Amino acid sequence: MAENLNRPDSLSTGVGFWRTPEGELFCEDVALADVARRYGTPVYVYSRAAVAERVRAYEAAFGDAPHQVCYAVKAASTRGILELVASLGAGFDCVSGGEILRALEAGGDPKKIVYSGVGKGEADIAFALEAGIRCFNIESPAELDRIHDVALALGRTAHVSVRVNPNIDAHVDAHVATGLGDSKFGVKLTEVIPLYEKAAKLPNIHIEGISCHIGSLVESVAPYLQMVEVLAKFVNELQKRGITLSHIDLGGGAGVAYHPEEKALEPSVLIPALVEAVRREVHIPDIEIFVEPGRSIIAQAAVLLTTVQYLKSGLFERQFCIVDASMTELIRPAIYGSYHAIEPVRPNPKAKRQILNVVGPVCESTDFLGNDRDLAVEAGDLLAVRTAGAYGMSMASTYNSRPLPMEVMVDGGRVLPLRRPQTVLDLSAGEARLGFASPAVDPAHADRLFEEALGFSQRRRVAD
Ligand code: LLP
Repeated sequence: MAENLNRPDSLSTGVGFWRTPEGELFCEDVALADVARRYGTPVYVYSRAAVAERVRAYEAAFGDAPHQVCYAVKAASTRGILELVASLGAGFDCVSGGEILRALEAGGDPKKIVYSGVGKGEADIAFALEAGIRCFNIESPAELDRIHDVALALGRTAHVSVRVNPNIDAHVDAHVATGLGDSKFGVKLTEVIPLYEKAAKLPNIHIEGISCHIGSLVESVAPYLQMVEVLAKFVNELQKRGITLSHIDLGGGAGVAYHPEEKALEPSVLIPALVEAVRREVHIPDIEIFVEPGRSIIAQAAVLLTTVQYLKSGLFERQFCIVDASMTELIRPAIYGSYHAIEPVRPNPKAKRQILNVVGPVCESTDFLGNDRDLAVEAGDLLAVRTAGAYGMSMASTYNSRPLPMEVMVDGGRVLPLRRPQTVLDLSAGEARLGFASPAVDPAHADRLFEEALGFSQRRRVAD
C-alpha cells in the first residue's frame, strides 16, 4: 500500500482507506473511481488488509489466554469474506443452517463453529450435528429437548452451551439490545441451573460451556464486566454441582466509529479486560474464552460506492441528492436511523457546497442514506458511504426489483470480484409464468432489450 501518501483516515483503523494529498479516496493501492468505472455503482468495496488487521487485532489481544474468535457471519456473509476470515484462523458464529453451510463452503473448520439463535429448525439442527459443529448455544428449555431428540435420532452427540439472558443494560440502541430481560434472546436467570442439570442427564448431550451476547454497538467495557460477573457465578455454581465447563462465550457487540467523533471499543482494550475478569472470577483455570465479533471486524473494512443521479430542490429550501444506492443496498439508516459518513470520492471544485439529503431511488420515504450532509457534488460524481461493511450487503434486499449490488475485495493493487453481478433477469428467472395475459411484448425480446440497455450504459461509463 502507498503508505507514504497516507493521509490519516478517522473512519478506518488506519488500514485500508486513505486519501491522496489531492483528496482522492483510495482502497489500498486502488483508486475507488477506477473500481466504479469497471464495475459500475452501487458497489461494495472491501479492503482485505483492513479485515485481516481486525482479525489479527483480536487474536493478538488474547495474548496467551486460551481462546476462540468466532466471526459473526450475519455481519457480512459473502464467501470471499468468510474465506479470508477462515484463512486467518478464526471460527464462525452462525444463526442458521444456511450460515453454517456458508462457513463450511468457505473453508471454515466445524470445530470452530458455534450456533446461536432462538428458532433453530429441525433441518438446521440435523445439519449442524452431521457437520460436527463445536457448540449449540441453547436459547430455551424447549430447544434443548429438540436438539436432544434430533441427536438421538441421528445417533450423534450435541455439544451445548446455555445462552444466558443476563438482564443487563448495555446502553445501546433498543434495535440492537439483546441482553435485557424482556428480549427474546437467551435463557432467563432462574432457568439456567435447572437446564444444565437436565442437560447433564441426557445421553446425547455433552455440556461444553456457557454463552451470552449483550447487544451490538457497545461503547464501553463496563457492561461486559457485568456480564462476566453473572456468567462466572453460574460457572462456579455448576462446578460445585459436578458440571465443569470448558469454555465461556462472551458474544460480540464491540462498537465501531461511524462518525469521526465516535470512539470504537478496540479489541486491545476490551479483550485484555475480559481475560482479566474471567481469570479473576471464574474458578476454572485456563477456561477457554470465546468471542463472536461481527461489526468490529468488517464495518470499517468497506465502503459502498454510489453515483449522484440528480440534484433537486424540494419545499422549504430542502435540497435532495438522489444517488443510485438506496435502502436496498444499505438499510441501516432507514430502519435504525443509523449514521454513515458520506464523502465524495474526489473533490469537485466546480460544485456548489450545500446541505443535502442523500436519498435513493426506492419508493419509500424512509429511503435515505444520510440527511443534512454538507457536500459539494454534481450529477455524475461518486460518493463513498463509509463504514458500510457490517450489516450492509448481508441485509440487502431486492425490493423495487433492484438487483443485489456488486461486491469486490481490494488486495493491494488487485480488485477481486466477490460475486458475479446480479441483474433483474436473475430475479425473475426462477419465477413461474402462469400464462394469464397474452404478452404485448414478447418476454424474451423484453429480456434482450434490458440486457442491451445494461450494455449501453456500461459502454458509456467505461468510455468516460
Ligand atoms: N453474537 C450474537 C449472538 C449476535 O446476535 C450478534 C449480533 C453478534 C454476535 C455480533 O454482534 P456485533 O459484533 O456485530 O455487534 N443489524 C444491526 C445489528 C444486529 C446485530 C445482531 N446480533 C445493525 O445493523 O446495527
